[in-house]
Amino acid sequence: PSPGWTTQADVVIIGSGVAGLTAALRLREHVGTVLVVTKDVLNAGSTQWAQGGIAAALGPEDTPEEHEVDTLVAGAGACDRDAVRVLVTEGPDAVRELIALGTNFDLDAAGELSLTREGGHHRDRIAHAGGDATGAEIQRALIAAIEAAPDIEVIQHALAVDLLLGPDPEAAGGKRVVGVTLHVIGEGVRDGVGAVHCRAVVLASGGLGQVFSQTTNPAVSTGDGLAIALRAGATLRDLEFVQFHPTVMYLGPDSRGQQPLISEAVRGEGAFLVDDEGNRFMQGVHELADLAPRDVVAKAIMKRMIETGRPHMWLDARHLGQAFWERRFPTILATARSHGVDPVTELIPVAPACHYASGGVRTDLEGRTDLPGLYATGEVACSGVHGANRLASNSLLEGLVFSRRIAAVLPDELPPWSDPVVDERTAGLVAGTVRRDLQETMTSRVGVLRSADGLGEASALLDKLAGNSAEQVDQDSWETTNLLTISAALADAAALREETRGSHWRDDFAERDDERWAGHFDVSMTDGVT
Ligand code: SIN
Repeated sequence: PSPGWTTQADVVIIGSGVAGLTAALRLREHVGTVLVVTKDVLNAGSTQWAQGGIAAALGPEDTPEEHEVDTLVAGAGACDRDAVRVLVTEGPDAVRELIALGTNFDLDAAGELSLTREGGHHRDRIAHAGGDATGAEIQRALIAAIEAAPDIEVIQHALAVDLLLGPDPEAAGGKRVVGVTLHVIGEGVRDGVGAVHCRAVVLASGGLGQVFSQTTNPAVSTGDGLAIALRAGATLRDLEFVQFHPTVMYLGPDSRGQQPLISEAVRGEGAFLVDDEGNRFMQGVHELADLAPRDVVAKAIMKRMIETGRPHMWLDARHLGQAFWERRFPTILATARSHGVDPVTELIPVAPACHYASGGVRTDLEGRTDLPGLYATGEVACSGVHGANRLASNSLLEGLVFSRRIAAVLPDELPPWSDPVVDERTAGLVAGTVRRDLQETMTSRVGVLRSADGLGEASALLDKLAGNSAEQVDQDSWETTNLLTISAALADAAALREETRGSHWRDDFAERDDERWAGHFDVSMTDGVT
């Protein structure tokens, strides 16, 4: 669409969670103008919803090396070792910076950071805030810092539609990112479709949870950043590694969209899983039992669900007691009660649901994508730290660490201004009405348990849905188009990976196969999935 208005900024940051706002705060002193655009309000993304906390080797006994080992083990042989090393060694400083910014983490009786444990960690290394409201506190502190920095401009209710490309004779593809088109709703003079010209874009737009019918992700997580990067020519990696959180509160067969998370930290504090008969089925499955890495727990729950024909299992946290629940997990307690379950006296029904995209837009250690002028950080990126299965509470940390690294290099890499070339890509928007069918298809055939037959059916069904052209151009059709683009690539990558690794679980290829599948699947517009 042709823009109704234009503006400019040296750097545009798309997204306003921990990754986007950290990048903005770090860049503002080094580049002329920074513009943050966000699809809803500043705190509508996944950061706000993070419960358990942020992992870093901050305890007196802990070391980055031990955090590194746990991260690599969870990642099931698919992590980039250099990226993991960066994450764990720069992590503690990044968390200290958050504290200096005003984030109030919970403290123990001695006034030291209170650290807890989650699945896959061999040490207590998860810093948390407000008991189980860590993300909300981090988001609050970051927004306060942004509001105190009037030189950072913010446009809310701005969906990033596509990247604008300009000539770059030195780039492999001859092009670089020189702007972004936005669809803005209700923001005064910048209403409707507009264009921002810039010298670099930092993608920090979060994940893709809404690809599935049930997810812990908020409604805004529609994979927009992945889709616009792909359309512009950047490469995506590891899309098949979508993590399903084991303990999402089960609200019944008809519940769709964002579902309530029951943090791993509840198991970290002693809760355990049981089946209908009260059997603790995690014992004997893994040396860490209920605190095994997330993929192991999700698979064990699904297996038990299949064996017993039940739609969910149960989490028993009654022994934690009322006072502990109120102090340590006030948000989860209130949410569970609002859905009619009192965890102090009752078992919580839980089932796995989509939680996190371990893959994303492929980046190097400084957040550069393979499209010049485009950087990516946080869940939208694939820096290589998560491999086939992200370690619990490493996601906020990734956003922090890699946004700091982007900010350290980007100012020196800004090119002179250049104009966008005429965009010859056609819109080809899909009708918003297909969204639900798309999500059902993905959940039933590309969800926790996958097989060649199901994945083939999913691709055929998604192809069919792509034939439903949008009659009107609006946010719903853009988002649905993005969901479809990413779903199709995800299903293709999942079909190609004929093994079970981390969060990618194949019914027909039950073993991990390092001889054939140790590498990665990349997705690009020119080559498809390779
Ligand atoms: C949780 O609190 O269980 C989620 C933590 C995470 O996804 O890292």
